[in-house]
Amino acid sequence: MKKLYVVGNRSSKSLSPMIFNYWFKKYNINAKYSYIQPTTKNFHNKIKEVLEKKDTLGLNITIPFKKRIIKYLNKLDVHAKKIGAVNCVTNKKSITGTNTDWTGYYKTLPKINKPQNKKIIILGYGGASHAIHYVLKKKGFKEILIFNRTKIKIKYSIKNKYTKTFKDLQKHLSGAFLIINTTPINPILKKHLTLVDKSTIISDIVYSPKDTIFLKQFPKNKKIYGISMLIEQAKPCFKIWFGKNPSVDEKMLNAINKKI
Ligand code: ATR
Repeated sequence: MKKLYVVGNRSSKSLSPMIFNYWFKKYNINAKYSYIQPTTKNFHNKIKEVLEKKDTLGLNITIPFKKRIIKYLNKLDVHAKKIGAVNCVTNKKSITGTNTDWTGYYKTLPKINKPQNKKIIILGYGGASHAIHYVLKKKGFKEILIFNRTKIKIKYSIKNKYTKTFKDLQKHLSGAFLIINTTPINPILKKHLTLVDKSTIISDIVYSPKDTIFLKQFPKNKKIYGISMLIEQAKPCFKIWFGKNPSVDEKMLNAINKKI
């Protein structure tokens, strides 16, 4: 029986096992998907151990290991290389890292006209955020402002451009077309909430609870819930591991909605 795992520091709470095990049953696949929850300290040993097991077919990587996993891989797909982060690992003849977060996020966006004129705010700049930045750039958005707790050099930009700090956020909120939270916290202060336009689309990549502490502050705005990205990034992983496109049926969505 093939084994697959989601690896992250809060992976026991992940819905990935539920999604993949549902598909295994539906498509009659002899595999089992569970989780590994390493600490920063034991990550090295845990990853080595699981990748050495013959029955390990694949891993999904989540916070805070999407960048750290790269040194354990033999190959990276072209997008993972450019993004600098991996959310999907395949352990076959060689150990390959793929990034499906970027297409996963794109599929959750509505059709957007004139992207070059629209301001996007990204909160946080970890692995998933790198992938979202990558796809937004690819799709023609020019004005993308990135805020992060720690100062980090921004990829795909002019030399020496760095993320802005959350302290500067209030000056930029007005006029945003889309605000995406990629952190596990809520980076917008209560007193600054009125600066966000009612027409701004609000997105969070955390999927549980569905209305996260970040999302629920915007009752009147259009929202993109984190669960759609989770599902959309999972589909191509299944295709890579088992060679077929899985479908998301009503029963699966109901089961997911009960959990979030
Ligand atoms: P990964 O690469 O797996 O996505 P990560 O690099 O830890 O994981 O990314 C998580 C994102 O959430 C980062 O932007 C991180 O900010 P830092 O670069 O400053 O670490 C952000 N984040 C995590 N915990 C946070 C917290 N308590 N407050 C603010 N930002 C946080």
